Amino acid sequence: MKIAVIGLGFVGLSLASVLASKGNNVIGIDVDVKKCKKICNGITPFFEPDLEKTLKIGLKKKLTISNDFSLIKDYDMIFVAVGTPQKSNGAIELSMIKKAVTSIGTILAKSKKKPIVLIKSTVIPGTMQNVILPILEKRSGKKAGKEFGLISNPEFLQESSAIKDTKFPHVIVLGGYQTKFMKKAKSFFSKLHPNVPITITNHQTVEMIKYANNSFLATKISFINQLSNICQNIPGANIDDIAKTIGLDPRIGALFLNAGPGYGGSCLPKDMKALISFADKIGINPTLLNAVEKTNQKQIQNIISLMEKTLGTLASKRITVLGTAFKPNTDDVRDSIAIELIKKLLKKKSRITIYDPKAMKNTRNIFGDKIIYAGSVADALNKSKCAILMTHWKQFERFNNNSIKYMSKKFIIDCRRILVEKELQAEYYAIGIGKI
Ligand code: UGA
Repeated sequence: MKIAVIGLGFVGLSLASVLASKGNNVIGIDVDVKKCKKICNGITPFFEPDLEKTLKIGLKKKLTISNDFSLIKDYDMIFVAVGTPQKSNGAIELSMIKKAVTSIGTILAKSKKKPIVLIKSTVIPGTMQNVILPILEKRSGKKAGKEFGLISNPEFLQESSAIKDTKFPHVIVLGGYQTKFMKKAKSFFSKLHPNVPITITNHQTVEMIKYANNSFLATKISFINQLSNICQNIPGANIDDIAKTIGLDPRIGALFLNAGPGYGGSCLPKDMKALISFADKIGINPTLLNAVEKTNQKQIQNIISLMEKTLGTLASKRITVLGTAFKPNTDDVRDSIAIELIKKLLKKKSRITIYDPKAMKNTRNIFGDKIIYAGSVADALNKSKCAILMTHWKQFERFNNNSIKYMSKKFIIDCRRILVEKELQAEYYAIGIGKI
């Protein structure tokens, strides 16, 4: 089985590396020549735990990387994992996926192979049926289900555990018609991931499963964040004890109940907007989804209000933001709440210093010389009037009275409750814990 993976982002590169490391013959394809060169040399274009190690193993085995689309003509399975970013109105932007399937269709037209095309990219319901399938059939002059297979195969991996999630998925989801191609795909995945449940259904249901999954996760986060705001106004109330306890109820579950500054990243915010925009378009008023999104957007204002309550005006005050990555163990700052916070504080004319163990470069790409980049937590806190812990990096757990020695005002807002147990000689606020 020869496998091609188109689009070498988090999903595509993790998939190509894992499949190749298991001995499969894999080609990874991306339009970005520079990126391809880096990957060829075993260098990952972003930080992701275990990815570089897995990529290097893959490259030693049968992984090749190229920007030449025509090479896919000899491949049996073609995974498409290109991005589906967001338009300014919240709807998804399909240009990359249209381009990718147009190229695949053109190559299929000249090929004798009958490959299976598997779409990993997140697309709104109806996209396979109404956009992807017609492009492929028109360009190739061939019939889906007869001369090539077309399967929706969404991905549920999380950044920061992409390799683990690719190796050990909790579910495999396959959408499309019951053809010989579907049988082949099912047999491929059950060999690759024995004992992992496989859901097989039609394209539109699979497309909706992906949005259902991410919007439910977002709902859990907004729910706990709203409760955390209530707790903050009940002296002594502790959101983590509440989350831990309700999480023991199997109907609720313990994961994704960590209160914080709101959900960010390249997926949850985008997918929420796309689902809301889709629901609106088909005449459904998505009241719950709208509330989840609104709660998320408001969360940042709570942090700013806390700061203003203690500092008064924020203009010309030195404020330290600790953690700009959208979550720990990644250098990704896309749609990070910390980045949003810095933008808002800059509008208020605050002077910002930041520190992040991995995301300094990506943060600098956004703000350039508008903010100061410190080399350590202690440096970042020097002469600062407020420290805001935004991302739960493990190393922030070492934070102590020594770290804040040179702050000009010892005022800390801990959005992740990392320092709750420490006896800090500071004015300390933890999101979700009511001050006594
Ligand atoms: C998310 C989903 O979790 C994956 O299942 C999905 O495959 C992926 O989107 C995607 O669609 O590609 P990811 O964007 O990597 O994965 O990030 P998450 O781990 O879901 O975190 C998203 C945001 O929620 C982060 O800002 C995180 O800090 C926040 N979060 C998460 C909380 O505030 N509290 C929690 O309890 C969990």
